[in-house]
Amino acid sequence: MGLTSFSCGPNGLLTVADPRLKRAVRIALFADWHSAHDDERGNIYRQYSCRMAQWHHPMEGVLDAMLKDAADKGAEAAFFAGDMISFPTEKGVEILHRIMEDSPIPCYYISGNHDWHYEGLPGSDLELRREWTAKRLMPLFGGRNPLMYAVRLADLKILMMDNSPGRILPEQLCWLRQELEEDIPAVLCIHVPLYIPGMGQEVTHCMCHPDWGWASDPYFEIERRERWPKSGVDDVTRAFAETVWSSGNLLGILCGHTHLLAGMAYRGKVQIVAQSGMANLIDFNPA
Ligand SMILES: [Fe+2]
Repeated sequence: MGLTSFSCGPNGLLTVADPRLKRAVRIALFADWHSAHDDERGNIYRQYSCRMAQWHHPMEGVLDAMLKDAADKGAEAAFFAGDMISFPTEKGVEILHRIMEDSPIPCYYISGNHDWHYEGLPGSDLELRREWTAKRLMPLFGGRNPLMYAVRLADLKILMMDNSPGRILPEQLCWLRQELEEDIPAVLCIHVPLYIPGMGQEVTHCMCHPDWGWASDPYFEIERRERWPKSGVDDVTRAFAETVWSSGNLLGILCGHTHLLAGMAYRGKVQIVAQSGMANLIDFNPA
């Protein structure tokens, strides 16, 4: 097993170093722009989008320029860790898709908990994710499986996985285990950070928090969504966390959800949370 280290330079450049990497790779990580682009097609959903629409961070022009700048600085690809839009409007998806298509570097998307959520529509989180991914979000995945897919950059594998409802599906765990069996350095890109003991993460800010469940859910009424289950964290999601932290081939996690840049270390791996509204440039270097 190698030894992964993490640093943040004075210019804001993040570096993950590991002896298993054979050549340097620079990427750009984006998350949580919470754009609320909409038009008359969204009128019938206005009662479900009005709360999140209060906080609108436009993408047009700004995100285009950041992708070009990242490419000019040597980024080989851009990874989007979810919640670039605050609800699944046609207009928002069209704008984001157009920007990804026009980007000088390839762009890869995975959903956050807001991408597929119109607050107050009936249905469980899993049902609503399935419905609105199919209805609206599919162009963002370029024909890939929106729940899980792998991207290869040189000898680094980026595993894109949707954990936006705070839990994962059995088929996602099977896929992840298979991918991590391959003897190639890998990084997991998800929306919600994983719980790390001793880091003081709030229960709403991470996945697999030991207190996660019915009694600790503070926002189900505000967000008008399914309340977290009485049974707490399920066995598949627990097994997912253990698979991640125990894998010898996984260098770390890229994620978003909490909007503020953070770097954490646990069991020889790093977890990097993207700063919202900017390009987070990350170098993966041979140690
Ligand atoms: Fe989120």
